[in-house]
Amino acid sequence: MDNKDRKKNISVAVDGPSGSGKSTLSRAAAKELSLVYVDTGAIYRTTALHILRQGADPRDAAAAAALLPEVGITLSYDAAGMQRMCLNGEDVTELIRTQEVSMVASAVSAYPVVRAFLLEMQRELARRHSVIMDGRDIGTVVLPGADVKIFLTAGSEIRARRRWLELRERGTPRDWEQLLQETRERDEKDANRAESPLRPAADSVLLDTSELDFSQSLERIIEIIRERTGS
Ligand code: DC
Repeated sequence: MDNKDRKKNISVAVDGPSGSGKSTLSRAAAKELSLVYVDTGAIYRTTALHILRQGADPRDAAAAAALLPEVGITLSYDAAGMQRMCLNGEDVTELIRTQEVSMVASAVSAYPVVRAFLLEMQRELARRHSVIMDGRDIGTVVLPGADVKIFLTAGSEIRARRRWLELRERGTPRDWEQLLQETRERDEKDANRAESPLRPAADSVLLDTSELDFSQSLERIIEIIRERTGS
């Protein structure tokens, strides 16, 4: 990326654990500030779905790696600005939201070969558009030069509760205890993996949403972006 391109496009990196409100808040901030929202978790989930469908063992890095050349991912946006994911031409936007895919995505995203495979796709999106990109390593690895870096957190019980409510609303309720345990397991895996572990970039702004409602969190995020970009 040369300086000319860097000037043209704004990039906002939003990292944090699942359930911290990254996606909903980033999508809303993107709308307010006319940025393209990129949900990188959905990219990992789409890759995981392919691996799952092929019946490969997600604990087997070599088996996952062997399937990567078959993974063709495209992103598009519908009229409401929602990111849609296509896997080899099939719209899988809803299919990647199951708990099974969440667990496989968490496992396969730990493999350097999977991360390397998806890295350039994410960078290319930021070269082409002014983005707000959410994930785990956006501020540290994908866009280390991002104009704004925000690290969103919330307590694990609060995040599990948000997910529990979301699944119930979607008509796929889950057992609370099990969901809480899975949330903690996933946190542990995402934070302790050797490759791109979840951690705040040194120059990120930390925002804990445990005590904030949606509109308070959004207001704060927009404030941070405006302060840092002078927009
Ligand atoms: O945010 P999410 O729950 O949709 O992410 C799904 C999984 O993908 C999650 O376990 C962590 C992983 N992920 C990642 O490793 N790096 C990213 N930039 C985004 C997601």
